[in-house]
Amino acid sequence: MKETGSARNGEQAITARDEYRLDESARTDAAQDSVLEHAATGTNVAGLRTALGSYATGVCIVTTTTAEGAPIGLTVNSFNSVSLEPPLVLFSLALRAMSLPIFQQAEHFAINLLSRKQTALSQRFAKPLADRWAGVAYQTGRDSGCPLLPDSLAVFECARHAVHEGGDHIIIVGEVRRLHWTGNAEPLVYLRGQYGHFQPESD
Ligand SMILES: Cc1cc2nc3c(=O)[nH]c(=O)nc-3n(C[C@H](O)[C@H](O)[C@H](O)COP(=O)(O)O)c2cc1C
Repeated sequence: MKETGSARNGEQAITARDEYRLDESARTDAAQDSVLEHAATGTNVAGLRTALGSYATGVCIVTTTTAEGAPIGLTVNSFNSVSLEPPLVLFSLALRAMSLPIFQQAEHFAINLLSRKQTALSQRFAKPLADRWAGVAYQTGRDSGCPLLPDSLAVFECARHAVHEGGDHIIIVGEVRRLHWTGNAEPLVYLRGQYGHFQPESD
């Protein structure tokens, strides 16, 4: 599985380099103004970040515990579904995250899918606070032992399935062992660096 992943990464790297050469040789004034015409590698991290930020996502707080049982958690929007049978989900974690060593070791974690009521919690769990959990209410997951946040839309208690390298992130895949579903509360949405909510198109 890992070999397939790195072979695919290799192919992508070659494609990206070729694209960069094309981009350099065929560059026009119009192309220079367009994020879409720029190579995504090397020099254009800001453009890539801007383009990726225009993909609207939900927001989650991923939680686990230290070996001593202290709660750990951070805000992520890299959550994604992977497979239904078996039930697999993933998120990616920055190599620079303080919680990286704990998640790398963790046998279990929980993904709390946030509702619109939890904007302040999302902001709190994205800041480098000394005591992120002070005053934060949570329950302990029966299967995972991880902190579960009330008012979440859904919570997935997971057992670690795989950890993959992913550039400046690692990709953590979990097998869902228990699902908590609280109904149709309003989701918290994140787009272009801002929180918002979902407004369905009227017919
Ligand atoms: C909406 C939003 C989404 C985020 N998504 C991720 C993510 O997917 N992966 C990640 O590593 N950091 C993500 N972050 C940044 C972390 O929440 C932030 O760096 C946090 O302080 C890391 O905590 P730690 O250093 O205690 O591990 C996100 C931040 C916000 C506001």
